[in-house]
Amino acid sequence: MRKPASRVLVINDEKLVLRDLLKGLNAAGRSLDNPLGISFTGVTTARGALTAIEEDGDLQAVVVDDTLYTLTNSAGGSRTLQMSALELVQRITRLRPELDVYIMIAQEQEDQVVDALFTEAVDGYFYREERDYRGWYRILNAEIQEKAKTPFYDQLKSYVLMAKDAWHTPGHSSGESLRDSPWASDFHGFMGDHVFDADLSVSVPMLDSLMEPTGVILEAQKLAAKAFGARRTFFATNGSSTANKVILQTLIAPGEKLLLDRNCHKSVHHGVVLSGAHPVYLDSSVNRKYGVYGPVPKRTILKAIKDHPDAQCLILTSCTYDGLRYDLEPIVRAAHAKGIKVVVDEAWYGFARFHPVFRPTALEAGADYVTQSTHKVLSAFSQASMIHVNDPGFNEHIFRENFNMHTSTSPQYGIIASLDVARKQAVMEGYKLLARTLQLSGELRESINATGVFRVLELEDLLPDEVKKDGVRLDPTKVTVDISRCGYTVEELQRELFERYNIQVEKSTFNTLTLLLTIGTTRSKVSRLYDALMRIAREGRSLRRIYRAPEIPGFTELRFLPRDAFYCGGEPVPLLDEQEKVNPVLAGRVCADQIVPYPPGIPVLVPGQLITAEIVQYLVGLLRSQKRVEIHGIVYDGYLPCLRVLTPREEKDLRKLGITCATSPVPARRGARKALR
Ligand SMILES: Cc1ncc(COP(=O)(O)O)c(C=O)c1O
Repeated sequence: MRKPASRVLVINDEKLVLRDLLKGLNAAGRSLDNPLGISFTGVTTARGALTAIEEDGDLQAVVVDDTLYTLTNSAGGSRTLQMSALELVQRITRLRPELDVYIMIAQEQEDQVVDALFTEAVDGYFYREERDYRGWYRILNAEIQEKAKTPFYDQLKSYVLMAKDAWHTPGHSSGESLRDSPWASDFHGFMGDHVFDADLSVSVPMLDSLMEPTGVILEAQKLAAKAFGARRTFFATNGSSTANKVILQTLIAPGEKLLLDRNCHKSVHHGVVLSGAHPVYLDSSVNRKYGVYGPVPKRTILKAIKDHPDAQCLILTSCTYDGLRYDLEPIVRAAHAKGIKVVVDEAWYGFARFHPVFRPTALEAGADYVTQSTHKVLSAFSQASMIHVNDPGFNEHIFRENFNMHTSTSPQYGIIASLDVARKQAVMEGYKLLARTLQLSGELRESINATGVFRVLELEDLLPDEVKKDGVRLDPTKVTVDISRCGYTVEELQRELFERYNIQVEKSTFNTLTLLLTIGTTRSKVSRLYDALMRIAREGRSLRRIYRAPEIPGFTELRFLPRDAFYCGGEPVPLLDEQEKVNPVLAGRVCADQIVPYPPGIPVLVPGQLITAEIVQYLVGLLRSQKRVEIHGIVYDGYLPCLRVLTPREEKDLRKLGITCATSPVPARRGARKALR
């Protein structure tokens, strides 16, 4: 295993003093135990410090002398600006919040300096006069080791290495049932020993409990909370799909209002059914030229907040699958002014805290709850997600009940360990890896454009008109490419890339492909993709006619609460009549299920929604299309595709939405929940 290199930057504007400090600290690092490869380097100006912090991805800590700093370096001869240590610390933490910051103070100024820096993210103080290099080194070493700890992973590893006899689940018993099987040993060999050794039962107390953590899981979650800037962090082993449902069930009692982007992930729509929420759907913006769904316009969100001050919460997706992210701060401010909680689905943005190009994160913008699919964009296993909480009124009991309702009593420990390690990696080298990813993204964009046929869509191209002035930004690790001039349809191109060039892309629309760069993307992968696209471009094919995907019909009336409609028995009604034409009897009925075509994964119908002829026509069009579109929620009566709709009797028995809200027993429940806080 490669030994890590960790650097500590010392900032002191007196050259001679700095030289002595570096000499003493480096000597201490050489003579004492130094498993993290700590060495010390120094600068004398604030600008030098900020440059080093930007450029040196191996920096783990900074020691700032409490004096004033000049912004320019002395050789520059230009205007000299003074910056206080306080300002410098603020700029450092804005740039890289994961760095440990220590202040070197003169004893006589102690109170002044400590007071000024009290609210800043300062990890500790050294007295300049003491010159206790070995002591300082030990403290910094311990601090950096603390960040690099993986309490859960370490415990799992040590348990596995103890090789205890297992008299508990899982049935494969550390792989023993498979190892010598003539039928199944191949699986054991393929997966490897430790997949089985580390797949353990909750009967092992030293591995803590995901449902009531008090040991190594709690410790790992605390480290994650610190790393991501949350008050509390919870590990979820069922993806953000579960995390979203847990949060909605925690925040919303039946009948209470939820403001949500209609384009949000289907788990949010499932959360609406489970929580019994009264959803207020916000239509997202659409880029018709490229079939890309963007953020909800800011004015739509602000109007919804104004019109529904009784909403419990607002949930938005940022960034979207295509990398578009909201300017969240003003939205959060407006929601909080009405007492509305803000939940942000950051399924695609879990790395953002670790490089300033991607910040502010939703938590930094003031969101109360954030879900992140750590597995999508950092080094965790599939299904590994985090829930971050910054809500000052967090009701832990209700949250825990809902979390446990959705959590398996046999969580996969490998997933939990991968969250622990993914957090450590993000803290220790996230900045460096993301800087490399950004560099590769820039190179990839340039080389794709250099093909002269494929073109990368930039923010201006992607942004629908209605959000052009909303301060939306683009995550450069999501690269959307216009393929309309290559002479292939998007399906043909995807097949060609896969079969001939071994390349699988993330997603597509009728005229675009989206590529996802992560911290695992390598330069050779970028070159292979460029090579494939260049070869395809050079084929010089004549243009193909590209059929635009039909647009999803607009939202109609929500007649009943989604939960009420979903739990009706309903009846299946075919989408086509006996002449194979669009069945006219469906128009005017109410859907009992969520109907979601993939792609793009946006519900055309939600439970309780009124069906129109236009919607039926749209669904029939998709069923007849040559393209491979899954439509989730369709029920088959034999070979006949049907929608499950409410019977006339059920419609009669259910209270229409307006009446349900006004007369339901919600206020009592809501009051009860508030009282627990
Ligand atoms: C916006 C969004 N939220 C949540 C999810 C669910 O995440 P997970 O796969 O971690 O369950 C997805 C998955 O694609 C998503 O795109």
